[in-house]
Amino acid sequence: MKRRKALKWTLIGVGGGVGAVVLGGAGTLGYFWNKSKLETVGEVDFDTPLAVPPLAESTEDASGARIFNLEIQSGTVAFKDGRETETWGVNGPFLGPTIRAKRGEEVAFAVHNGLDEGTSIHWHGMHLPSVMDGGPHQEVEPDGVWAPQWTLNQPAATLWYHPHPHGRTGNHVYRGLAGMFIVDDDESEGLNLPSEYGVDDVPMIVQDRKFNGDNQFNDNASFMSMQGILGDEIMVNGTLGPYFDVTTRLVRLRLLNGSVSRLYNFGFSDDRPFSLIATDGGLLPTAWETDRLQLSPGERAEIVVAFEPGETVALRSNPADEGYEGPLGRFNGGDDRLDICEFRAAGTLADTAEIPESMGTAPDLADAEIAAERSFSLSGFNQINGESMDPMRIDFGVREGTVEVWEVENSDGFMHNFHVHDVQYQVLTVDGREPPPRLRGWKDTVQLNPQAKYRLAMRFADYTDPNLPYMYHCHILVHEDSGMMGQFVVLGEGEEIGTVPVSASASSHGGH
Ligand code: C2O
Ligand code: CU
Ligand code: CU
Repeated sequence: MKRRKALKWTLIGVGGGVGAVVLGGAGTLGYFWNKSKLETVGEVDFDTPLAVPPLAESTEDASGARIFNLEIQSGTVAFKDGRETETWGVNGPFLGPTIRAKRGEEVAFAVHNGLDEGTSIHWHGMHLPSVMDGGPHQEVEPDGVWAPQWTLNQPAATLWYHPHPHGRTGNHVYRGLAGMFIVDDDESEGLNLPSEYGVDDVPMIVQDRKFNGDNQFNDNASFMSMQGILGDEIMVNGTLGPYFDVTTRLVRLRLLNGSVSRLYNFGFSDDRPFSLIATDGGLLPTAWETDRLQLSPGERAEIVVAFEPGETVALRSNPADEGYEGPLGRFNGGDDRLDICEFRAAGTLADTAEIPESMGTAPDLADAEIAAERSFSLSGFNQINGESMDPMRIDFGVREGTVEVWEVENSDGFMHNFHVHDVQYQVLTVDGREPPPRLRGWKDTVQLNPQAKYRLAMRFADYTDPNLPYMYHCHILVHEDSGMMGQFVVLGEGEEIGTVPVSASASSHGGH
């Protein structure tokens, strides 16, 4: 007799749809169980030099603002032998240049959308007016130009930029739209950290992809994935199987998890220790030595690793240290071991940089006066506090100049994470306990372990607008696109929550 013990799993469809599939039979499940652990250690040919995104060029206008031209375009890339892959990129066919500027500088952009659908460019981690934020309310129409401008007003940090159109962020990032945005400041420039771009200060945009038989990006959700697409090939800065020639003893890696859904637990093939020097919002007061560093989608970290002359060592992703247990963990990549990039040290290594005793400023909101507390429960792929994103709904307003504590809970049995626009926050506690060292610096995105509660303290400063909201959301992009997102406005004294202008993106239609 055929016993049918039906197991119901909810699958996420690409593009925001949520579907369900019913599976029967332990045999089928066993097959997929074995297949769902991905192991690529020793199997990646590190035969391509790591691409380093060029630094974006800029010109100065009469007022001294630095102007960057960003051209969003489609193209093709020969990732593999055979047919070229159709891609999107900024100022090139895939990914975008690294934007680099210093605190206090005025930056201005001409973002031209050369695609035949609307998109946007959001500056993830940036403190700036909501009208410049590049979220769903600043979509740029095909052939439109968007011209945001603001003064950099935050500590040195590794930020990034990516599209944020309503419901299509995952798709646009997966096709290739993303880049790094490095902010420098006087303090960071005064430190003797490795800082030569592409030499001992190396951007690493880590992303996974699935290719179909025709070498095109495959955007089907992975089997039984709660997170959408989990690629089986890892690229760094768009390079598959990358190696990097090390010429200095110390190398700083600016790690960005630019994947749509995959978590990485970084470490080296020989488990050597390395130093975490910066989290999302900037430098830590002092380095933290570790041999593992877990980053969920959207998170960044700067690490410094030491090499011996002549050696070869690989950067890997290991099974998740936390947040993933049981079958759902495995089906979402939690047991995977992946080779990422090989580092090949030269016979002699320059040795001038060091990790300073003291670097950035520690988050200081633990004892701040709290103006408001709010709670957020993320659940079921597409909801926060029981509601899905509605671009016209402003969920609440915060007062400029005040500190709030947001208690954020993952109410599900699988992973979410939580990103807030405009601010960097301090993780006060995780389930009532002191956060692990990797979460003690300034953060704008934090992984939410299943059923865990995170208390986040943040100060809202400077930019008020009662009508144009900032977002908070899960950065697993298929969840974000399905609606796991909300909106808040920053209010000046006496201001009330306004109304989102219907044509919020109208400014993008004009020419330049
Ligand atoms: Cu990186 Cu609202 O996103
Ligand atoms: Cu963001
Ligand atoms: Cu989520």
